[in-house]
Amino acid sequence: MELVIRPDTEAACNLVAAIIAKAVREKPDLVLGLATGRTMERLYARLAAMHRDEGLDFSRCRTFNLDEYIGLPVEHPGSYRYYMNRHLFNHINIDPANTFLPDGMAADIKVGCAAYEKKIVESGGIDLQLLGIGADGHIGFNEPLSGLKSRTRDKTLAEPTINVNRTLFTNPNDMPRRAITMGVGTILDARSVILLATGKSKADIIAKAVEGPITSMVTASALQLHQQCRVVVDEDAATELQHQDYYRWIFDHDPDWDEYRTAK
Ligand code: F6R
Repeated sequence: MELVIRPDTEAACNLVAAIIAKAVREKPDLVLGLATGRTMERLYARLAAMHRDEGLDFSRCRTFNLDEYIGLPVEHPGSYRYYMNRHLFNHINIDPANTFLPDGMAADIKVGCAAYEKKIVESGGIDLQLLGIGADGHIGFNEPLSGLKSRTRDKTLAEPTINVNRTLFTNPNDMPRRAITMGVGTILDARSVILLATGKSKADIIAKAVEGPITSMVTASALQLHQQCRVVVDEDAATELQHQDYYRWIFDHDPDWDEYRTAK
């Protein structure tokens, strides 16, 4: 795992966008794992701008989202399909047929989950998985006690998650109680992973996930087992980390970060 601290939210988002853009340029048919949530909005705006201004080409990419609510039709503004269209897909040149989310309206959810896992494998596996982190340490919707080898499945959302996410609904009572999510094991199968976290509200959980023990109570801590995981935070989200000097030293000296150090 590598941890990078950027001066502010914009610089953190721009660094992650630069990593994604490089991956897309190096492998035009990249299989990209995507996340939703407030944190990603700025990042997706940056990717859309890179497409518009620099011609960043997504035409051959395929995408798999981490999760989707159960029981919300795709045209509902609270659905993650709606979010992805609004914040990213409508602004880049990706083929909509190559964008995949779990089917929260499937007649048989378990069959749908197995089909989603199969589709990922048939696509050659996820090259780069983007992640946010919930206040309880969830990645995707892998709430506390999710098995660290879990696969795509339906999950009942934890109360704190419902309380945070319901504020995004015009009618908060529309917020579903259940969702389909890639499992922790599904996420760990990605060839590389980037977790983006910004703001003071993420400081405590980032410290637990990165510097604490690997535990299913904080499913993001399982990323410590991943072979290529980068965690990008802003100063606010870094405040509870014990080893900030070490992370800054590595970022300043590791040649792998040379091209990104000056990114604003
Ligand atoms: C959503 C997802 C979640 C979010 C997390 C943080 O697809 O995977 O794990 O990344 O809940 O959400 P925000 O960014 O709204 O704090």
